[in-house]
Amino acid sequence: MSIKKNKLRDRFNKKSSESFININSSLENDKFLFEEDIQASIAHATMLSSQKIISNKDSKKIISGLKKIRTEIKNNKFIFDDNLEDIHMNIESRLEELIGDAAERLHTGRSRNDQVVTDLKLWMKKDNILISKKLKKLKSALLQVASKNILITFPGLTHLQTAQPISVGHFFMAYFEMFNRDTNRFSDSFRRMNENPLGAGALAGTNFPIDRNKTTKMLGFKKPTKNSLDTVSDRDFVVDFLSSSSLMAVHLSRLAEEITLYNSDLVGFFKIGDQLMSSSSIMPQKKNPDGAELIRAKSSTISGNLSSMLNLLKSLPLTYSKDLQEDKALVTSTSKNIHLCLDCMIEIISTIKIERSNIDKKLKSSFANATDLADWLVINLGYSFRSAHNLTAKIVNFAEKKKISLNKISMKDYKKFDKNIDKSLYGFLDLKNSINNKKSYGGTAISEIRKMISQARKELSNEKY
Ligand code: ARG
Repeated sequence: MSIKKNKLRDRFNKKSSESFININSSLENDKFLFEEDIQASIAHATMLSSQKIISNKDSKKIISGLKKIRTEIKNNKFIFDDNLEDIHMNIESRLEELIGDAAERLHTGRSRNDQVVTDLKLWMKKDNILISKKLKKLKSALLQVASKNILITFPGLTHLQTAQPISVGHFFMAYFEMFNRDTNRFSDSFRRMNENPLGAGALAGTNFPIDRNKTTKMLGFKKPTKNSLDTVSDRDFVVDFLSSSSLMAVHLSRLAEEITLYNSDLVGFFKIGDQLMSSSSIMPQKKNPDGAELIRAKSSTISGNLSSMLNLLKSLPLTYSKDLQEDKALVTSTSKNIHLCLDCMIEIISTIKIERSNIDKKLKSSFANATDLADWLVINLGYSFRSAHNLTAKIVNFAEKKKISLNKISMKDYKKFDKNIDKSLYGFLDLKNSINNKKSYGGTAISEIRKMISQARKELSNEKY
């Protein structure tokens, strides 16, 4: 419902129709930018007066009016009107009610096209920092769980089949690496978005002697953008954000999937805290890992938003088209979901229990050390790796038939496969030794993981946020 007059309709003979107001209004999706809109307008008004484009008196009136509006919005006293299209026109219209004619001078030398990108960038810079801080918390929780459980042997998998023994610490540090790259992606996108769009005008710049360096400084940007056409049509920074978020959501989802799997009563390797589970309305025994499942699910919304944004942009000519208005719903949806996922994952990781005895039981009946047996034949008896692989496969078949592990095959039986096999093999097949012999850089040896953890701790404490 329209309450106020839309001042941008002087060119028309008819009022906006209801259906047009409904499709054209972005208010629901850009209200959240009110703080940044006011901040940018204060900087703009200050610059206009210091450049003598408007009077000092008008600038002061504008700034105090804007501050009043900020308080009104914060206290839920502000009346929003969809007919005014967006947060920018709602604020401008209210400013006029509050201070009269001076308000009409605020839009000198700027356009909503540079205004909206400025507001969005300011908001996204803040959100980028909040996300980076949460990522840091998640990484520190991963370091904690990795170092606490470093001595627990775990089945490393390929194809979801037992492959080789690893340390639980190695498992969690793998996710640390992924999230570390996510941090880098967010800080890269912060750097790229840190350019001030204000002053690009509608598309061509402005006739007024504005000072873009002044607003750049006031708003905390690194430098002004260089091309006014690019400035108002650029949404790379939105794609950057949606893309960094999507990849991080994929990492969160993979971790959530592993946790769901290992937490299952069929596997029983991990235990998620009760505070992060829900039960069933009919099956009283149930403890369901809903938090982890929802993290997995929300990543699909997040990557969907990236795909929507790329499709939105791909056919747009220079410069501004109204299509660009749709970006904000994607940004807020991704941001909301990313924060939910990060908060929940931080709690899951900080409280997760590793069920050592269940893991040990399962590992004992596995052939996780078969590759070590093949390696032993290469190192000690001079086999080529391929022939060692063949012989080991035969030995595994033998052990499987006898329902014993490789360590439990007697020396007499081993000698039937090759008379030169000797007792030193047993030590090599021991799962702890299997892990600690993988000393190659980045391998699963405890000494390697400890090095990686202490390096990561140092890096984390030097992180900016
Ligand atoms: N509500 C618009 C948006 O979010 C503001 C820019 C309007 N510019 C225009 N030329 N109609 O994109």
